[in-house]
Amino acid sequence: MSARITKAIFPVGGLGTRFLPATKSMPKEMLPVVDKPLIQYAVEEAAEAGITEFIFVTGRGKTAIEDHFDHSTEIEDTLEKRGKDDGLTAVRGMMKPPGSVAYIRQQEPAGLGHAIWCARHYTNGEPVAVLLADDLIQPDKGGVGCLKQMVAAWQETGGNMVAAMDVAKEKTASYGIITPGVVDGALTEVKGLIEKPHPDDAPSTLAVVGRYILEPGVFGELEKMERGTGGEIQITDSLARRIGHVPFFSHQFSGTRFDCGSKLGFLQANISYALSRDDLADRLEPWLKSLNQ
Ligand code: UTP
Repeated sequence: MSARITKAIFPVGGLGTRFLPATKSMPKEMLPVVDKPLIQYAVEEAAEAGITEFIFVTGRGKTAIEDHFDHSTEIEDTLEKRGKDDGLTAVRGMMKPPGSVAYIRQQEPAGLGHAIWCARHYTNGEPVAVLLADDLIQPDKGGVGCLKQMVAAWQETGGNMVAAMDVAKEKTASYGIITPGVVDGALTEVKGLIEKPHPDDAPSTLAVVGRYILEPGVFGELEKMERGTGGEIQITDSLARRIGHVPFFSHQFSGTRFDCGSKLGFLQANISYALSRDDLADRLEPWLKSLNQ
């Protein structure tokens, strides 16, 4: 395989009901971890992996995301006049070249598969990456991001790929769960995939988390608009139907994943990212220790 992956889809159309009231008028993806919104971490992870076209599938009340990735002349002018170079670098450094960011509205939150399908015309029949910003994956110290690891592995396998991690048995009903085949290092052949099984019915504890590389055939399956678990159009169902047609592997990434769609995961992410920062760790760490005394 030598195809390059240059496009990434960011589905940000969900309602974020687990985080109410914070997400009543603010998109979940704009919640900050330390000083950056979740969506910016996902975009930076994609750029690190070689992505140059960024496709956001948004919904009602998500315009703050569009504004975040646009120039703010008022802020930039003020920072310039005041000589605040660090702030200027932060807001200008995150800008993408004109025309490389697209926004599509998912008119109803009919599920993750439906959100991805909404971006079909932008994929141009090429393999694409999908990143869920609320699954924040912190690279190991000195390591690379999850998507970059997956793209490197996908160069060898092609087909479909999902990021995966082992979860506690009682948690299987919160994830897509894999029926594992042959294991080769971080890669596991996916022989079956089922959305949110009860622990007693789960084929394993290997769970899909929010990073995918999709071959174009998945869009043909999504097109059928079949509703699955929760009455939603699930990406896992379409991926499962491609088994036997194209290679399908899960990649057990190096790094730490935080479920920032949940309050606990979000708090843990903030602490973990703050502790990895030179400007915060030496003051935060003693304070955290003092809480236990
Ligand atoms: P979640 O299952 O976390 O749903 O979606 P949600 O609506 O965002 O949050 P809760 O459960 O109500 O708190 C997983 C991912 O799929 C996207 C979400 O934005 C999130 O990144 N998604 C989900 C869509 O883009 N559209 C949908 O219709 C559903």
